[in-house]
Amino acid sequence: MLAAILFIAFWVVIALGLFFIAVRGGLGGARDTLQSQSRGGRRFAAVMFAIIYVAFGIAIPAVTLAGNSARASRQYAGLTLTSSEKRGRELFGEHCAVCHTLAAANAYGKVGPNLDLLAPPQSLVLHTIAYGCLQNPPAGDQQTCLGYGTMPSALVQGRDATDVANFVARVAGR
Ligand code: HEC
Repeated sequence: MLAAILFIAFWVVIALGLFFIAVRGGLGGARDTLQSQSRGGRRFAAVMFAIIYVAFGIAIPAVTLAGNSARASRQYAGLTLTSSEKRGRELFGEHCAVCHTLAAANAYGKVGPNLDLLAPPQSLVLHTIAYGCLQNPPAGDQQTCLGYGTMPSALVQGRDATDVANFVARVAGR
């Protein structure tokens, strides 16, 4: 939205500039007006150039790029992630992606199971994060893993664990 306004403003400034040149009798006349005139005229020209540089060299690229990345990390396969899920996506990249494949997080780890195929519900993810997976679990351990490999417990905790579980459950297999 802001980018669109700036884009329109850009052309408005260009049009006003052309209009100014035309009114002053072509480029020569415009230059005379800006140069030969008072300090006020020169200051006006300097301010106009400064505005043009800042607005179109910095503001438009900044707004467009920031807007894109904010939207990009919130969207996946037509889903709009909640802020919890979006945080979960970042945490997944930091703590889980080395071992698991999950397309929504651009993760292609091969140590643990492919979470897109497993599509675990939120409660299973939370449980696995809390207890981990050991190859030889002690008797009475609550873990539900298959004993194929080792996954450390409590890689993320509390709020972070909930965010990761929300994210995985929402996107896995989509
Ligand atoms: C060091 C590698 C490693 C990391 C890091 C890791 N995992 Fe695992 N994960 C595994 C392995 C190996 C298994 C399979 C264990 C088995 O079935 O014996 C597994 C299994 C799972 C399962 C399936 C559990 C089940 O009962 O079938 C889920 C869900 C899971 N991991 C989620 C996560 C999440 C979320 C993270 C990040 C917080 C994570 N993993 C980080 C290695 C890892």
